[in-house]
Amino acid sequence: MTTALDPTTSPLWSSLHEHARRLPSLAQLLDADDRRHETFRVAAPRMQLDLSRQRWNADVQRDLVALAEAAGLDAARRQLFTANRFNVSEDRAVLHTALRAAAGDRIVVDGMDAVAAVQDALARMRELSDAVRTGTWRGATGRAIRDVVNIGIGGSFLGPALVCDALGPTSGPQVHFLANIDGEEATRLLPRLDPTRTLFIIASKSFGTLETQVNARTVRAWLLERGIATPDLRRHFVAISTNVPAAADFGLPEDNLLPLWDWVGGRYSVTSTIGLPIALGHGFRAFERLLAGARAMDEHFRDAQLAANGPVLLALVELWNQNILGTESHAVLPYARALDLLPDYLQQLEMESNGKGVRSDGAPVTTRTGTVLWGNVGTNGQHAYHQLLHQGTAPFSAEFILPLHPGHALAEHHRWLAAHCFAQAEVFARGRDRTSIQAELEARGMTAAAARTAAAHRAMPGNHPSTLILLDDLAPESLGALIALHEHKVFVQGMIWGINSFDQWGVELGKVLGTTIHDALASGDDAAIHDATTRDLIALFRARTGSN
Ligand code: F6P
Repeated sequence: MTTALDPTTSPLWSSLHEHARRLPSLAQLLDADDRRHETFRVAAPRMQLDLSRQRWNADVQRDLVALAEAAGLDAARRQLFTANRFNVSEDRAVLHTALRAAAGDRIVVDGMDAVAAVQDALARMRELSDAVRTGTWRGATGRAIRDVVNIGIGGSFLGPALVCDALGPTSGPQVHFLANIDGEEATRLLPRLDPTRTLFIIASKSFGTLETQVNARTVRAWLLERGIATPDLRRHFVAISTNVPAAADFGLPEDNLLPLWDWVGGRYSVTSTIGLPIALGHGFRAFERLLAGARAMDEHFRDAQLAANGPVLLALVELWNQNILGTESHAVLPYARALDLLPDYLQQLEMESNGKGVRSDGAPVTTRTGTVLWGNVGTNGQHAYHQLLHQGTAPFSAEFILPLHPGHALAEHHRWLAAHCFAQAEVFARGRDRTSIQAELEARGMTAAAARTAAAHRAMPGNHPSTLILLDDLAPESLGALIALHEHKVFVQGMIWGINSFDQWGVELGKVLGTTIHDALASGDDAAIHDATTRDLIALFRARTGSN
């Protein structure tokens, strides 16, 4: 990253704290201006972002935009569309925007025309998905493919799983996902499949991720046990990876390998070849439409002025919430069953990207980076954790997402869903004050003392900031735009915090130690284990599971 600014040393940072000290409550802000929804509603491709229930005002927004400018966002957002070196700790370019660039654009990175490489890969994806969907691609016994299983984890799982689930029933083969190393997953899935009619995708940028390797080996053994001859495995496996030699070692010819590139981070890869399950299940056209939606958001992010830019404002307001107002977590609340997996997807995107303790130059960060993100679909959450949100003590911000047009014809259901979404957002903002409840109870005949106690239990502080994203619908274009919106939000926040949003060194130690512990569990030799508790757990596990 090119930024040298430590945001906390900027006079704008102090100015933001000053605003926070003087700012009235959200209810007061809303009461003082009944046109806030006009001032703070931003149009972006396939959606509108209503930021009027954020606890901010025009002065705050102006200073936040100025902070982004001071951090060099204007230049940086353009660099995201050209050869750059944003991933400094791995000396890599960051170019997920090239995945959905228009054919004919040219971005040369490491001597490669990235857009041309993407177009070639898209042509191969189209060919492969058409062949499978039309039955031209056949399994070992000559029968068409009926099920597709994506073997992959993290970014090689969450994006395609989100989109496939959001698009509903497939128009082609059924698509399944095998991610976890927990044998329960493979044990539950495999018996449901006909080995002669199933295509497995090994989706792994590195082709070295343990979970994926172990699951792939289990599946290969399962296929062989069920009579698929080794030379025919190529009819049942394709891979997506940057690592051609490792895929070849697994026994896959290059024809069965779709490319991926170092300049696509795992968690930014759903619009790459990693999206193959989408094309297989829903057709290549659906995948192209996803790309078109993402491209529209890319262009909006690149070209719209910062003060009217959806991803920029979303990033800034959440930075304000967390770093200045002190929210501790961010709830993502899609009011859409189709977006069930969005919180899971965003957890990786945001928390793996921006959960960093040092700036790009290695110096410690000086403010809280990354965001504890969680959530699930409404209205289910209302009957689970909204009690804590309404009356608990932990400060949070929320993001509601409501598609205006659902993917079904049950209008009454959708009206109720929208009503509850709007109601929750209003109650988060305004709460309910004790005095009015008390007065109401007294008017109904309760004694003043009893009404005071009852009102204390029923009052809600409100003042919880939220954004409402009104998505046009659940079409692939809208999903692509929603995904790109969040990718760019993460980029903006990382830029301002001065961190590298594109590496993930923090997950490495656990992987290494996991391997050492696995060896000790298998052999009983714990000489390489340095922690007494871990040594005891290994002994206990071996004794209790009969490994001894
Ligand atoms: O969990 C770390 C991670 O490297 C993620 O960043 C990545 O998306 C995931 O593992 C899977 O990696 P791969 O696609 O290389 O198997």
